[in-house]
Amino acid sequence: MQHVQNELSSKSELLIAKENQYGAHNYHPLPVVLDRGEGVYVWDVDGKQYFDFLSAYSAVNQGHCHPKIVGAMIKQAQTLTLTSRAFHNDQLGVYEEYITKYFGFDKVLPMNTGAEAVETALKLCRKWAYEVKGINENQAQIVVCENNFHGRTTTIISFSNDEGARKNFGPFTDGFIKIPYDNIEALEKTLSSSKNIAGFLVEPIQGEAGVYVPTEGYLAKAKALCEKYNVLFIADEVQTGIARTGKLLAVHHENVQPDILILGKAISGGVYPVSAVLANDAIMNVIKPGQHGSTFGGNPVAAAVAIAALEVVKEENLAANAERLGILLRDGLNAIAEKNSLITLVRGKGLLNAIVIDCDEESDLAWEICLKFRDYGLLAKPTHGNKIRLAPPLVITEAQIKECLVIIEKALNEFK
Ligand SMILES: Cc1ncc(COP(=O)(O)O)c(C=O)c1O
Repeated sequence: MQHVQNELSSKSELLIAKENQYGAHNYHPLPVVLDRGEGVYVWDVDGKQYFDFLSAYSAVNQGHCHPKIVGAMIKQAQTLTLTSRAFHNDQLGVYEEYITKYFGFDKVLPMNTGAEAVETALKLCRKWAYEVKGINENQAQIVVCENNFHGRTTTIISFSNDEGARKNFGPFTDGFIKIPYDNIEALEKTLSSSKNIAGFLVEPIQGEAGVYVPTEGYLAKAKALCEKYNVLFIADEVQTGIARTGKLLAVHHENVQPDILILGKAISGGVYPVSAVLANDAIMNVIKPGQHGSTFGGNPVAAAVAIAALEVVKEENLAANAERLGILLRDGLNAIAEKNSLITLVRGKGLLNAIVIDCDEESDLAWEICLKFRDYGLLAKPTHGNKIRLAPPLVITEAQIKECLVIIEKALNEFK
């Protein structure tokens, strides 16, 4: 068991003070200052070791500083880092072939961050609507879900219902219809109500909302409805993708192939910002030179890193590991919940899980619990007040999951 250390060292305090003084206050991090990571572990500046149960919001699925991925990055960084898309580079085509075959699409559009990839998908969907579906100019609507999280750009927050994310950032972008998540009737009613609907953008599990897993069958039914109404099914798998939920993609649990697939985070194993939008030719070919892009999108380092990161997922059977150990984790958490009424609900798929704490969303209790987890050597963070996401790197072992369950139970017992 880890040594319990409740006080922050003066070194940590100094570094946090610098962030507070010189950095914008757009985050509220847990007070811990990390300077090293390897596999499922991270270390703070005083050498204390922690299990990482956030994995940088599921970016570090392959584990921290995976040697194969870091090796690919170093090799490429020493050779050629950036050409922009003004010229070809020798890595991009190889990567494009690799990722499209990996996920079963004709084409990929490479970007850098998750939000950029979502923006790309929205633009692609609109262009398809005007040029293929035949919707009149500027009339296209995209259906989205309540409590979504797709990133932080102005257009994306235009259809968020998180007031904190929106307030005083208007005016917003038009053209979105919000419906309740996990509600197939609401989707059908909306799709059948207008000929101007171009797409349905959905997270297969709502991660930021607190790992909200929809009813079984929802995604398959939603895809079928999209086909019926000639509407593009756009899956945002930035958080759920790349083996996190026990399958390569979360939509694979219901045998769904999206029309547009959005990937980010773990596509690089967390070593570099890489994101991607995948679609078949009938959709992707609406984009012509000069209509969309990014200086860094598709750069050689990103391409080399992404191939290595995707290879690791297959070579190390990370989807199967996430599936098997996710069950072990949830069983263990449910066993704790039976003894400790602080946990009102355990939910998730694979290694994307959350516990719901018996308090309201404004309470500090989940935060206090995360501080206690930290003291006992496990890092997690509350999401939406009373939920704590538990999402370790997928390279975690059975013995480590058991060790973490002991930490979680012990920490929670202090709040009984
Ligand atoms: C489902 C989903 N989409 C998009 C994003 C945005 O990704 P990024 O932070 O890389 O812009 C996130 C980030 O958490 C996400 O969870």
